[in-house]
Parts: sequence; C-alpha cells; structure tokens
Amino acid sequence: MMKSLLVGYKAADLDRVSFEGEIVCHELDVYLAHAIAAVHPEIRTVCSAHLPRTDEDGSKWNRICFRTGPKLMSGELALDLLQEAYGILAEDATSDKIWKERLVIDYVGRERDRNDLIDRIKDDPRRVRSFEAKWPASVPGGEKLIFASTPGCFCHRRLDEGGLALAEVVSRGAECPDSSARILDMGCGCGLVGLLVADFVRKLKGAAPALTLIDSHTRAIEAAMKNAASFGIVAQMMLSDSGIDGHPELEGAFDVFVGNPPYYSDYRIADVFLQTAVKALKKGGVCYLVCKNAAGLEPVQKRYFPEVEIINRRGYAVLKSVKG
Ligand SMILES: C[S@@+](CC[C@H](N)C(=O)[O-])C[C@H]1O[C@@H](n2cnc3c(N)ncnc32)[C@H](O)[C@@H]1O
Repeated sequence: MMKSLLVGYKAADLDRVSFEGEIVCHELDVYLAHAIAAVHPEIRTVCSAHLPRTDEDGSKWNRICFRTGPKLMSGELALDLLQEAYGILAEDATSDKIWKERLVIDYVGRERDRNDLIDRIKDDPRRVRSFEAKWPASVPGGEKLIFASTPGCFCHRRLDEGGLALAEVVSRGAECPDSSARILDMGCGCGLVGLLVADFVRKLKGAAPALTLIDSHTRAIEAAMKNAASFGIVAQMMLSDSGIDGHPELEGAFDVFVGNPPYYSDYRIADVFLQTAVKALKKGGVCYLVCKNAAGLEPVQKRYFPEVEIINRRGYAVLKSVKG
C-alpha cells in the first residue's frame, strides 16, 4: 500500500484533502500535532525537529507531500524541509522519479515562487545547506553568549528585543535570583531568557540556578539544548504545549517564572503561560511576562495574580507578580 509522509499540513487542511493509501503527518510543533489528534484521531502524527527518514516500523515513504508557501512558513524553513524531504527520497530513487512522482509540493502562493523554491534544490540536489545561524546576546554585566538557532525556532538569526528586555529586568539588582533558585522559562525558544539569566547568576553568585526550559516547538527545544550545552548550563528540557501538566512533581517547585509568549492569538497563549506560572510557582515565587502592550496583558495577568507591577524596558513592558 502507498505510504505518504505529510509535511506542513494542519488539522484544518486535512478536512479538505484526501490522500490515497496510508498517511502519517509530520509536525514541528506539538500544539499542531495535538490539534490533528483532536480532530482526526485516525491519523498518526510524528512530532520531531527533522523529518523522519522512515516510518516507526522501518518502512520507507513512497511519497512525501509538502504543503508550503510564503504565508505558511519562512522561505528558509521551506528550503530546509524540502532539502530534508529530497534527501530522504534520494536514498532509493532517481532525481527524475523524485520530482515526477514522489515529492508532491502543495504550494500556496504564486507559481513563480513555487518554481524558484524547487529550482534551489533541483539545480544542485547533492548539496546539503546548513541553515543554522549564530548570533550574540548579553545582559549588562554578563558575558556575551553566542546563541545558535535554526529555521522554525524562535528567534532565528536574530535576538528578540522583548526576550532581551525580560532577561535584563530579571537579572538586574534586587530582581536577580539566587543561585539556589529554581527558574522556569516557558516558551523558551532557543533558550534566550533562561540561559542569559542563569549564566548571569552563575557569574555573579558562583553557581547557576536550576533551570527548566519548556517549549511546544521541537526546533526550539533542539536549539535550547544545544545552547545550554555550549554554555555549560545544565537545564531540564520539556517539549510541551500545556506547561507542566502531567508533572505533579513540578507543582509549587519554582521560585521564578519567565515567559515571552506569542500574542498572535490575542491572549490565549499568554493565558496558558499564566496558568502554568500559578501552578508552578511556590508561595512567594515571582512571575515575569513581557509584552508590548501592558494595558492588554495586565487584566489577563490579574485573573491569576492580584497584584501586577509594570516595569518598562526597551519599549516593552515586563509585568511582575508575586504568588501569594
Ligand atoms: C515570542 S517566542 C519567545 C522565545 C524566547 N523566550 C525569546 O524570548 O526569544 C514564544 C515561544 O513560545 C512558544 N510557544 C507557543 N505556544 C506555546 C505553548 N502553548 N507552550 C509552550 N511554548 C509555546 C513558541 O514556540 C516560541 O518559541
């Protein structure tokens, strides 16, 4: 039976397309994998930072169907995934066969852009490009750390000013945690906030605090792991879209919670972050969330914490609350 790996498809896309034979859906983000499982429990999903070379029983994909386009993902991520898909199929098929039968591009956008994307692989199919980027970040008085990121991971190729503002606020003066503190960085991306703070505390106080990094995106966790190892910081990594759910041992375990949530779905994700903060912090533990619009986030944060202090930095607002 024909076995296809679907890449770049979301739950809603699967309502309108039907595929011949057996399908397995690849997702980079566990939230998207859970969304498919909720709507299509009959479809198997695999959530990983890179495309699986085979199915779990070792059988090969007959076809890879790749849904992409400028509104769906960055050009670099599209090229990176296309290169991985081509490399997997190239193990047992000729280039001609791959392009004609085995790699199906479901392109959402202009035909010209679709052809440009394919040409970039077609012209030199044996070349494997690395899309990893390295860039520096530091907080005042801290070491310059060189972070690595890959396409799909937030932030790729550049530092996020909101994350930096948060790290600066949490590491300055009286806010700076003790080396005995336990810190949770939710939505850690490549680890920017948690790792900058942990490294600063280590420099100032002689030992790094215990750090837990959570993200729903596999490439964020992959990059955060790599960055923690390269800075010599031991951190617990968790791939999760629901905070510490399923980990009762982490309830009430943390002294500090930091988060730079995405705000593209209003405050729905910030809400998940705040639910986690309340659950994860011990009494007297401190929650810091960064945003652009304090007036929008403050009422949401007040649903979870009675008091909210606003600290302005770099054009961002850090909202600080203490768990009572
Ligand atoms: C704005 S980025 C911040 C990344 C990093 N903390 C920084 O400041 O550069 C938000 C991060 O939250 C992650 N995210 C989104 N929804 C999430 C959820 N439900 N649970 C955990 N992480 C989530 C995204 O994958 C992304 O890495």
